[in-house]
Amino acid sequence: MAVLGLGYVRVGTRDLEAWRRFGVDVVGMMPGTSSDGSLWLRTDDRPFRFRIELADSERFLAAGWELASEAEYQACLAGLRTAGVAVREATADEARSRCANGVAMAQDPDGNPFELYWGRVRGYDPFISPQGVSGFVTGDLGAGHVVLPALQLEHTATFYRDLLGFGDTDEMRIAISPDPAVPELQLRFLHATCRRHHSLALIAMPAPSGLVHTMVEMKDVDDVGRALDRCVAAGYHISSSLGRHSNDGMLGFYVATPGGFDLEIGCMGLTPDWSTWVPTRSLVPSIWGHKWSPPPA
Ligand SMILES: [Fe+2]
Repeated sequence: MAVLGLGYVRVGTRDLEAWRRFGVDVVGMMPGTSSDGSLWLRTDDRPFRFRIELADSERFLAAGWELASEAEYQACLAGLRTAGVAVREATADEARSRCANGVAMAQDPDGNPFELYWGRVRGYDPFISPQGVSGFVTGDLGAGHVVLPALQLEHTATFYRDLLGFGDTDEMRIAISPDPAVPELQLRFLHATCRRHHSLALIAMPAPSGLVHTMVEMKDVDDVGRALDRCVAAGYHISSSLGRHSNDGMLGFYVATPGGFDLEIGCMGLTPDWSTWVPTRSLVPSIWGHKWSPPPA
């Protein structure tokens, strides 16, 4: 029993139009055919990879983790319940709204909401980027990754390993002050069964929106460069300049979304062979670039 990868991300907003402008006009995602008034943003031939829903605040709602079969899904739910985790199975309408056969909702020990699902309901509509993005790297690698706040870092990492089948990819400790008395910032990078370097990362810091960042990978470095040009031209805050991450090799930048969290737009991420992978401990987040700038007040 193990999660295949990140299937989708759900986000709540008071302003669907702001998300449409950002997702479609700037990032180059394709609007999907929503069945319930939510905004569906596509990066491939799935009905959506980002599901933006009307809510009373800007907030991350859930990461949708995909399982390969009903048997895997049921085994996962049984393991969660045995561990004392509250799990709610979705109604038929809720499952339909996720384009899945079965969906269940729960929270990790840090209170991060997640959903497990099985069964892909697909229309096979081809992906055509309205901004000419040559494509997003998805398929068996899933939608991308999410980075969640986890003040109980070790406990929550153990939860994902033991109950959802994730494996360790990398542990990062970053010095955030020249003062040795200031603790390092700690991150854990975890992989699902797919070959994306990490589908999930945990960082020991709070995130008011509920999400630190989510990542989409584009097929070509020129797609990333043009996306950066569109973000700058449209006036979005660039949270980090272009750079290449040390651990997953992702070359990209970070832009502030309307949701109060960042979107990492990258390319060239590593796809390790887990049968031979040795988890690393990285001491720096990037080998070049990634100059961070705080969001405007
Ligand atoms: Fe990332």
